[in-house]
Amino acid sequence: HFLSEEGGPLTGRKILVTAGPTVEPVDPVRYFSNRSTGKMGFAVAERAAEMGADVTLISGPSPLSDPYGVKVIRVQTAAEMLDETLSRFDGQDAVIKSAAVADYRPANPLAYKMKKQDGPLSVEMERTDDILKLLGERKKHQLLIGFAAETDRVHEYAMEKLRKKNLDLIVSNNVAVEGAGFASDTNLITIHRKDGSAAELPMMSKKDAAEAILLEAAALLRAES
Ligand code: CTP
Ligand code: CA
Repeated sequence: HFLSEEGGPLTGRKILVTAGPTVEPVDPVRYFSNRSTGKMGFAVAERAAEMGADVTLISGPSPLSDPYGVKVIRVQTAAEMLDETLSRFDGQDAVIKSAAVADYRPANPLAYKMKKQDGPLSVEMERTDDILKLLGERKKHQLLIGFAAETDRVHEYAMEKLRKKNLDLIVSNNVAVEGAGFASDTNLITIHRKDGSAAELPMMSKKDAAEAILLEAAALLRAES
């Protein structure tokens, strides 16, 4: 409903969205992952396309089907998401990182199925690269929008991430609140800006939350050009 003869608020803009979890293999049949389903990121990608943008969506494993009018690249690991994101970064006007990227991965994934032993098992984990932080170090004109999943001290932790990763906006959601976190169709988000101001939105569908985020992005892009 945003597209008219003149286009929508994001017509002519190139936007890269990441979504979903990443999966980090232990062996060919086992992995570490998280509860992300991709719903928020897919909603952002779909809405951005409806608002006129040229949208690329890079997603970890998600049961959702490709949004209409969006170029979709499916990945598994944080390392693959990093490669696909970095190689496309230069041509973008904005990057919206809603993916729940693994912070750690097994240090020595096995090529064969691990056999059980008597007694406990420990798996050595190593840090993954922080994709958003790397983008923040490389950005030129691009608008960078991050997400922050928190359970407490939400504003403080979100603003810390905005500054550390050189972001233009960060969207926080309190994943401890019912109806706000992973797998839900609704979300309770706050949009934090560089100047420390924030828009605290009521509980709404992920589609409407996506639209609110994209309208803030569109305003910043207009102010830039
Ligand atoms: N992110 C990323 N690469 C990572 C980890 C996180 O790009 N390896 C991005 C996420 O996509 C999100 C933002 O960073 O947009 C914040 O993710 P979050 O997990 O909330 O924060 P972290 O910086 O990982 O800190 P912590 O998990 O300790 O709270
Ligand atoms: Ca994290």
